[in-house]
Amino acid sequence: MLLIKNIKQLLQVEETPRTRVAGKEMASLNVIEDAFLFIKDGRIADFGAMEQLKPEYLSGEIIDATGKLVLPSFCDSHTHLVYAGSRELEYVDKIKGLSYEEIAKRGGGILNSSKLLHNTSDDELYKQSLSRIEEIISQGTGAVEIKSGYGLNTRDELKMLRVIRRLKEETPITIKSTFLGAHAVPSEYKNNQSGYVDLVIQEMLPAVAEEGLADFVDVFCDRGFFTVQETNRILSAASKYDLRPKIHANELDFSGGIQVGVKHNALSVDHLEYTGDEEIKSLLGSATMPTLLPGASFFLGMINPPARKMMDAGLPLALASDYNPGSSPSGNMKMIMSFGCVDLRMTPEEVINAVTLNGAYAMGVEKKLGSICRGKIANFFITKEVPNYQFLPYAYVSDLVDAVVLNGENVRG
Ligand code: NIG
Ligand code: FE
Repeated sequence: MLLIKNIKQLLQVEETPRTRVAGKEMASLNVIEDAFLFIKDGRIADFGAMEQLKPEYLSGEIIDATGKLVLPSFCDSHTHLVYAGSRELEYVDKIKGLSYEEIAKRGGGILNSSKLLHNTSDDELYKQSLSRIEEIISQGTGAVEIKSGYGLNTRDELKMLRVIRRLKEETPITIKSTFLGAHAVPSEYKNNQSGYVDLVIQEMLPAVAEEGLADFVDVFCDRGFFTVQETNRILSAASKYDLRPKIHANELDFSGGIQVGVKHNALSVDHLEYTGDEEIKSLLGSATMPTLLPGASFFLGMINPPARKMMDAGLPLALASDYNPGSSPSGNMKMIMSFGCVDLRMTPEEVINAVTLNGAYAMGVEKKLGSICRGKIANFFITKEVPNYQFLPYAYVSDLVDAVVLNGENVRG
């Protein structure tokens, strides 16, 4: 049993669980001032205002959170954090003027990471990825989706997915895995892209499904990568294995990726820098979570998606880090909240909804994570002493995490 008492503000509380928040609701956040939170058997057992605290809650471990806030852990629904090495030299090329696509065309980018991954042992890949997991846990993340996609051949895609499975087994964070064989066309298939799509469908997908290695399937459906037709083929094949799509879409152009994702009942479509009226129309009324990755737009110096317009139209939004070596080498979700506020003009309430409950929805864990709700898994963090929740995105580089609790156990602080 664990009691957190005297919490200055307890954020994102729900008496009745919601699956996600959309449109105008994004602007409201349920907060209890001067609150307690009571944990039993790894779950949230009760919460409320301090005057409602029951005496029996005082018999276990007690943490005094005077002056501090408590938030449900961040749910980071889009990352590529299993990768080998780093790509800081391409970063320098970008500073000197090359675009993301130009670097990719020269064999850099995803293909560069693929080469590095190929030459890295399973254990070394696990070790590097584990240190990124430890880093994001200490920054307040309690659930993360991780994609394959730096293998680009059957053996190496399986190698990545097995590393993700090992992380699932050996770390306290909740992990969902996504098969992203169609992330880039490997150089052997440079002049035979449809041959590579055949390989993804005929060899990789069955092997991934056979070992039960993936929860979801992804395709990079964008200009210069995979077409709508190819995406259609891959998603149709994946549906036979019950792999729901989460799509990279409309980062580089109006690619049709959003529409093809919605057509296949994608759980999320992600990036969305190029979103217009047609795309918004197709998302309205769907079960697909539009997910924005402002760390990537920031890092690549690209245009921002029309977040305000999307919310005004009634859409929900999730924000995720896209943690990867090329377009967003950080998984710091507090920083993502700041990008959401500054670059996407979202309010603190909107970004908190986007990185908790809506992030949980975008990775299929909203029933057990994403809010402070009785019966949900006790994944949350306690901040340092701060004036209020608006201070979190405002103090954009300060580490304000004081203690992290995952599954009811204190893992930091
Ligand atoms: O989400 N856009 C496609 N894939 C990744 C980048 C991967 C990389 O550059 O290594 C992304 O930004
Ligand atoms: Fe990505």
